[in-house]
Amino acid sequence: MKAVNVTPPAPGFFKNNRGDLTFALRSSGHFAHSGFILLKGPVLQDIYDDDIQYPLIPENTLYHLTGIADEDTYALISIADSSCVIYVKLQDPAKSYWIKVKGLEEFKATYEIDDAKSFEHLEADLAAKVGKNTIYLNVGVNKYSGITSLNPLSELEAMATKFTIDKDSLYEFICESRVHKNAEEIRLLSQAAEVAINSHFSTWKKLKAGLTEREISNFFSCSNLTQCNALTPYHNICGCGHNGSYLHYEDRDAPLKAEDLILIDAGVRVHGYCSDITRTVPIGGKFSEKQKQIYNIVLAAQEAVFRAVKPGLSWQDAHIIAERTMLQGLLDLKVIKGELEDLWKRRTSYYFFPHGLGHYIGLYTHDLAGLKSKENVWVPYEKMNLRVHRILEENMVLTNEPGIYFNEGLLNLAKKDEKVKDVIDFDLVAQYAKEIGGIRIEDMFVVTNTGAKILSSRLPKTVMEIEAAMADKVVYE
Ligand code: GLY
Ligand code: MN
Ligand code: MN
Repeated sequence: MKAVNVTPPAPGFFKNNRGDLTFALRSSGHFAHSGFILLKGPVLQDIYDDDIQYPLIPENTLYHLTGIADEDTYALISIADSSCVIYVKLQDPAKSYWIKVKGLEEFKATYEIDDAKSFEHLEADLAAKVGKNTIYLNVGVNKYSGITSLNPLSELEAMATKFTIDKDSLYEFICESRVHKNAEEIRLLSQAAEVAINSHFSTWKKLKAGLTEREISNFFSCSNLTQCNALTPYHNICGCGHNGSYLHYEDRDAPLKAEDLILIDAGVRVHGYCSDITRTVPIGGKFSEKQKQIYNIVLAAQEAVFRAVKPGLSWQDAHIIAERTMLQGLLDLKVIKGELEDLWKRRTSYYFFPHGLGHYIGLYTHDLAGLKSKENVWVPYEKMNLRVHRILEENMVLTNEPGIYFNEGLLNLAKKDEKVKDVIDFDLVAQYAKEIGGIRIEDMFVVTNTGAKILSSRLPKTVMEIEAAMADKVVYE
């Protein structure tokens, strides 16, 4: 296995990100050049009434612009010159036998910032530095979760001095600044992909009838930790047999059977940047004929999308390419009956492929969505759960993750849907469902000026490559 030389962001990375954002704000004409951005960092959350807390997860915007992952930190950034002063609610020195108390000098020495002060100075500094100029806050609702971003509005409202606050303008610009990745971000995403590739591959080597999905999931996480002490960015999805048909399967209790497939959707977050990769592999090392048929349809869909990707392609059209390729494959197998165009219009594909083709990936697994005004006109096809509604542009990083699922609950709904119930051969579906829960293939890619650069291409993918890799017939590089 090729060891990944895991390195942190290059010096200057966070300062550059700050420079790029403030430049975009100044160029937009929507922000006062004399204004400031005030960001709030992560807060430790108690586990209900326990005196133990959930692990601290960096707040992505603060991390992107400063590198700071510490609790109770605030950053004041000048839009004019992107300089940054942080304000820290310092820990009580009496706690120093209990936790490692960090001082301001350490903050200054560790991060790419201009100064570090204690939180008590914030109000006076705002009065002196900002005065009547606008303070822009990052307040917005994440399009996918419906949750409002972390922001210091309540801290400002609690101050005796009143400031001019704008909480409506910044969020979308922050989102937009994350849509295109710079060269160092692409390196960090590629690094996260490389670590996860090793974890996928070494996890396949552990697959054995009788082990549980949980053991497989834990092995994957352990491989990440061993390689670079990094955690998974989302709960590993490890579903064997029918469990592979649940998109975000969480139970992981089932024992593996040699004749089943296992769908492993798992990644890693390294220095903030996430990977998200899926392979579906035979536990016993060999695909059955039916498993191979469906696998090759999903692969054909993914490859058709990769062939089409280039700047100018709309992601909706990419999704439609995947849907139609898979519909044609199911039609060829006689799992569905009729004429492709008509089947597609009836939204037959939804019952086998109910999710969107892919999403942006970066500091979040499902990265921020960008300016609404840049979304292309979306023909709202029924039952097409896409996250990205944009024309592809160079340096966007997305996942391409088609899948075919034989999910019992969804197929029961298909049986009641007047539009599709007569075009699906449910007896044949039942035969496939005995051998296949779900097959998804997910890779991460960068849009280049001419096409796609796949970041996770080192991980075996064709039926032949996977079977050879699992039989130790290839030396894995
Ligand atoms: N693992 C989550 C996703 O693929 O979107
Ligand atoms: Mn994904
Ligand atoms: Mn995934």
